[in-house]
Amino acid sequence: MYLSKLQLFQFKNHNELSLEFCNGINTITGANGIGKTNILDAVHYLANAKSYFNGIDSQIIQHQQTFFTIKGKFDGEMPAEILVQFESGKKTIKKNDKPYPRLLDHIGLIQTVFITPYDIDLVLSGSEERRKFIDLSLCQIDAAYLQNLSIYKKSLDQRNALLKNMQGRFIDPDLLGSFDSKLIPTGELIYAKRKEFIEKFLEFFVPIYKDLSQGKETPELQYESTLSEGSFADILYNNHRIDSAAQRTTFGIHKDDLQFNLDGLPLKKFGSQGQIKCFIIALKLAQYRYFQSVTQKCPLLLLDDIFEKIDADRAQRLIELVGETSFGQILITDTHASRVETHFSSIKAEKLHHQIG
Ligand SMILES: Nc1ncnc2c1ncn2[C@@H]1O[C@H](COP(=O)(O)OP(=O)(O)O)[C@@H](O)[C@H]1O
Ligand SMILES: [Mg+2]
Repeated sequence: MYLSKLQLFQFKNHNELSLEFCNGINTITGANGIGKTNILDAVHYLANAKSYFNGIDSQIIQHQQTFFTIKGKFDGEMPAEILVQFESGKKTIKKNDKPYPRLLDHIGLIQTVFITPYDIDLVLSGSEERRKFIDLSLCQIDAAYLQNLSIYKKSLDQRNALLKNMQGRFIDPDLLGSFDSKLIPTGELIYAKRKEFIEKFLEFFVPIYKDLSQGKETPELQYESTLSEGSFADILYNNHRIDSAAQRTTFGIHKDDLQFNLDGLPLKKFGSQGQIKCFIIALKLAQYRYFQSVTQKCPLLLLDDIFEKIDADRAQRLIELVGETSFGQILITDTHASRVETHFSSIKAEKLHHQIG
């Protein structure tokens, strides 16, 4: 299945835009600020029912407007038309004119891998970005994970609301315990799935990093979770007093993190700019391979301004790596049409170019 047509209406800076794509390499070029990244984000939205960048849907509506729509036509074995609409705080997604009963049911139909300059946050920002990376990798292929994550988030909000309302006063352990018991099964399942994912993911990630970097350093990726220290039930119970005082749930999978190292040293502190970029691209390509291994299909690859950010040799190697098995559909943005053409000239695939603005 590949995206053959994308239509945006009042989506960020695009009032009305319609683009056709081929089942190969599609380049979108145009000046800075013209809305290239926004187009890729719309495709991400179509697959994942949310923006890659902005979790607040009302901010995605074009300024001064009241709703946005994204329409995607997918061709291939199972042609489908997907329509996303957001209006008055409500999001609806339709497949072939039929609304999904739950948004969750849509996710997993299309896998996307997005590589953008903003991914630097994966290394430099707090743990939330790294959890988002794990979640996006799992949600797109595992409906049970997605569902459990959604239940966990709701249960966590409820428990936190109780802790906040009590403002540090004593809470009956049985009462708090009843909130704990909602978090425990989903939290443990998510922990187990994240742990299993990282183990599998590393098999793809390490060789890709080594290939891309051409260096001798060994990359490491460690999953850190308080749930590795004991049963989640005990952890929650033993921290009732601490949580009461903090007025929030201090331990759980919502605090998980990934530690990125090179030869045992933290990447964030000791990595060079080149090593950091290489690490990020390897993470994304490993995600691509991971999806491929699970679904036996090529994910839709969204490459945002990559030639701007990485050197020519590495960019070339990236393209070769992606194309090693078989090429799926790629949407790639750049300010310069000629640069993209040069990089893809040796690749035999269908190609289409759009100049925006
Ligand atoms: N909700 C919105 N309404 C209107 N414009 C928006 C909205 N959100 C973002 N933009 C605009 O989109 C533009 C950025 O588009 P972007 O896709 O990042 O450009 P490019 O990738 O081509 O450099 C900015 O000018 C920004 O103000
Ligand atoms: Mg951009």
